Amino acid sequence: MNPGDLMPLTARQGGPVQGRARVPGDKSISHRALILGALTVGETTVGGLLEGEDVLHTAEAMRTLGARVERTNDGIWRIHGVGVGGFANPSGRLDFGNSGTGCRLAIGALAGAPVTATLDGDESLRSRPMERVLDPLKRMGARVIEIADSGRLPLTLQGVAEPIPITYEPPVASAQLKSAVLLAGLAAPGETTVLETEATRDHTERLLKHFGAKISSKPFGEHGRRIVLQGQPELEPANVLVPADPSSAAFPLVAALLVPGSELVLDAVMTNPLRTGLLATLREMGANIEALEKRDNGGEEVADLRIRTSVLKGVEVLPERAPSMIDEYPILAVAAAFAEGVTRMRGLKELRVKESDRLSATAEMLRANGVTAEVEGDDLVVHGKGRPAGGGEVRTHMDHRIAMSALVMGLGADNPVRIDDSTFIATSFPGFVELMRSVGADLT
Ligand code: S3P
Repeated sequence: MNPGDLMPLTARQGGPVQGRARVPGDKSISHRALILGALTVGETTVGGLLEGEDVLHTAEAMRTLGARVERTNDGIWRIHGVGVGGFANPSGRLDFGNSGTGCRLAIGALAGAPVTATLDGDESLRSRPMERVLDPLKRMGARVIEIADSGRLPLTLQGVAEPIPITYEPPVASAQLKSAVLLAGLAAPGETTVLETEATRDHTERLLKHFGAKISSKPFGEHGRRIVLQGQPELEPANVLVPADPSSAAFPLVAALLVPGSELVLDAVMTNPLRTGLLATLREMGANIEALEKRDNGGEEVADLRIRTSVLKGVEVLPERAPSMIDEYPILAVAAAFAEGVTRMRGLKELRVKESDRLSATAEMLRANGVTAEVEGDDLVVHGKGRPAGGGEVRTHMDHRIAMSALVMGLGADNPVRIDDSTFIATSFPGFVELMRSVGADLT
C-alpha cells in the first residue's frame, strides 16, 4: 500500500455484539496533556494516551518546538517541557495532519511565546476556518505573518512573550477556541477571562488546575460559564491519566443497541457531563444503557457502560445539546435511522466545519443506504423505519467519524455497507477494526 491509497471496508450483519471492551484514551485530553506537559518545566508522565494519528502529530509538534516527548511504553509517555513562553523557533513546518484540535490548541500556546511558526495540515484541515482562533489571539498581540486564502492553513504566526490579557466572548460554542485563548493567557500578565454562553468541554480548565494554574469557572447566564485564568503561573509537572474516550465509545455502543441480541460492556468510559449528550439523547430514544461503578479517574468521572439491544423511537434534539455531543451526530443519525419515527437534530451549523461538512456527509451516508434524510437549514431530519436497507457505498470525505458511523450502520442494516476509505479511522481510533471484531462485528 502506498500513502494516499484508499482502503475500502465493508460491514455486514453477523452475530450479536457482545463481551467487554475498552476503547482508547480520550482525544481531547491527550492533546491537552501533551501541550500542557510541553508548557511545564520538569517531567510530566501521561498514562493511557491516545496513540492516534491526530495526537501523534501534536506530540511531534511539541518536539519540534523544543520539548522532549518520549513514548516509554504502550500509552505511557514522558514529557520534559520548556515552560510557558519557552518554545524554540521550529526548524520546519508544524504538520497537524487531520487534526483541528491539535492545530488550534497549538496556535493558542504559540501566541504566548516569542517565536514564529508555520502550521499546516492535510487537505481536510486546510479547508477548515482558522480566523476564529486568530481573532482573539491578534487582540492579545499575536501577529499573522502569512495565511492562505480566506483564513485557511498554511499560516505563519508570530507569538509574543507577554500577550495582553483580554476578556473574550467566543462567537461560537467551541472548546478549541476557548482553549486557545486560555493557553495564550498562560503567558499574559494578568487575568484572561472567557465568557461562554454555551458551556463546552472543560478539559483544559481541569488540566490547568491539575498543573497548578489558578483558574476559576462559574455559571454565566442560563447555560454558560465565566472562566478566569491568572496569567504567568508556576506550572508544576503532573501525572495525567487519560480516561477512555466517550466519542470513540459511541461506535461500539450504538452497534450494541442496534444489532439484535447484543449485550456489551464498555470499560471506564469518561462521563464528564459536558461530553454525555449522546447518552442522554439515546436514553430519551429508549436506549438501555446502564452506567455501572461510577468512579474518579485522574480528575474525570468514568463508568462502565452496559448496553443492551433496544427498540428506539425518534426524538427532537435541541440545539442546546450540541456542545455536549458535537462529534456524535453522525452516529446518532445512524441510531435515528434504526428508530421508529422522525428524529430532528437542531442547530448543527458547526458540523459544516468539522473534518468534513458533516451535515451533508451524514445525510449523504444515510441516503446512500435507503434512509430518508434531509438537511433543513441547520437541522438534520432523519426518518427512522426500524431498520435501513443498507447496500450503499459511503464516501467518507477524509472524516473518521463518517467512516465509523457508516460501518456501524452496516452491522445492523439488511444489506452490507461499504466505505470508500478506512484510513482516517486511525486519526482517533487506532484498533477500531480489531476491537469491533473482538465483540462480534463482521468487517472485511
Ligand atoms: C474538541 C472540541 C470540539 C470537537 C473536537 C475536539 C476539543 O471542537 O469537535 O473533536 O478537544 O476541544 P469545537 O470546540 O471547535 O466544536
